[in-house]
Amino acid sequence: MSRILVTGANGQIGSELVEVLRERHGPSQVVRLDLKPPPAPNGRPPDAPFEVADVRDRDALADVLTRHKVDTVYHLASLLSATGEQHPDRTWEVNLGGLKNVLDLAQTHDLQVFWPSSIAVFGPSTPKIDTPQDTVLDPATMYGVTKRSGELLCQYYHRRYGLDVRSLRYPGLVSYKTAPGGGTTDYAVDMFTAAAEGRDYTCFLAPDARLPMMYMPDAIQATLDLMDAHSDALSVRDSYNVAAFSFAPQDLAAALQRRRPGFSCTYEPDRRQQIADTWPASVNDEAARADWGWTPDYDLDAMTDDMLAHLGAGERVRGGEGEWESGGMGERESGNVGT
Ligand SMILES: NC(=O)c1ccc[n+]([C@@H]2O[C@H](COP(=O)([O-])OP(=O)(O)OC[C@H]3O[C@@H](n4cnc5c(N)ncnc54)[C@H](O)[C@@H]3O)[C@@H](O)[C@H]2O)c1
Repeated sequence: MSRILVTGANGQIGSELVEVLRERHGPSQVVRLDLKPPPAPNGRPPDAPFEVADVRDRDALADVLTRHKVDTVYHLASLLSATGEQHPDRTWEVNLGGLKNVLDLAQTHDLQVFWPSSIAVFGPSTPKIDTPQDTVLDPATMYGVTKRSGELLCQYYHRRYGLDVRSLRYPGLVSYKTAPGGGTTDYAVDMFTAAAEGRDYTCFLAPDARLPMMYMPDAIQATLDLMDAHSDALSVRDSYNVAAFSFAPQDLAAALQRRRPGFSCTYEPDRRQQIADTWPASVNDEAARADWGWTPDYDLDAMTDDMLAHLGAGERVRGGEGEWESGGMGERESGNVGT
């Protein structure tokens, strides 16, 4: 039976991935790791097992792997795109130092590893429409630089040492369980929350900033499907493009206005627009579809209906401290920046 470690377990993806892994493997089989315990209702300590550790600390990681007899790691701990521009040195140390620690320990502990990359690996010279799997990769942010470097590191460890490390280039992810903390695609969650609460919204990206996006259930499914695939089927060992749908802020605003006619959105693009300008509008994910059968379930309308149903039922995004505006490290350390 698998014994799993999820680093960055308190984050937007980790908090949902852990729930699904616990359902699949049993709660005691999934060890969560983050810089601090998750906020617990009524001040109760988190359900065990939870480990407080920094992924830059190799000895601490090794100790966790040994004590819990871990065989599979979902290494999600990272600083994200907007935060990366505010803290480039720390982003390099956490994103690549942490990954190098996990890959080295994966060799000695015989681990299977999942590590997420991002559409931030693409840059200004990358074809913007239907961006191929193999193409020009000239990331314009420190985050993107760490993601592309990490992809090459994963590929190197696979080729040189036969390590079973697998990766996806997630697009911007939308979810209702965790709040955005200030980033490039977080406007989508902000806009949903405003519309669900009957407020108008001022968007920090331009109305026509079209980007690849995905609903969280599809991102979790893609992650699990890739990890379940037979190793021989995988032709990509840096990181797979995965796509669901693309939309611009004006498209999401229109989808919300059809369901909430009073909702209104205005636009005041800030520096995050410059990051968005370097990313593709859509990506080609034929390799993922051919190799391990990737197909998303949600399009923009299905996601919009589901998001509003959950937010309307009183479920509220949690965490996140609007870190972009404050310029400091927020409550959740990295902020909750979508891609
Ligand atoms: N959310 C997206 O839209 C998106 C898109 C593309 C790729 N990704 C990637 O997916 C992964 C998870 O993203 P997320 O959205 O859940 O991020 P998040 O910011 O919501 O969560 C990251 C977590 O990592 C933890 N962390 C940060 N530094 C750490 C350290 N030194 N040691 C231990 N834990 C540390 C944070 O406390 C946080 O809980 C990241 O690698 C990210 O680059 C996310």
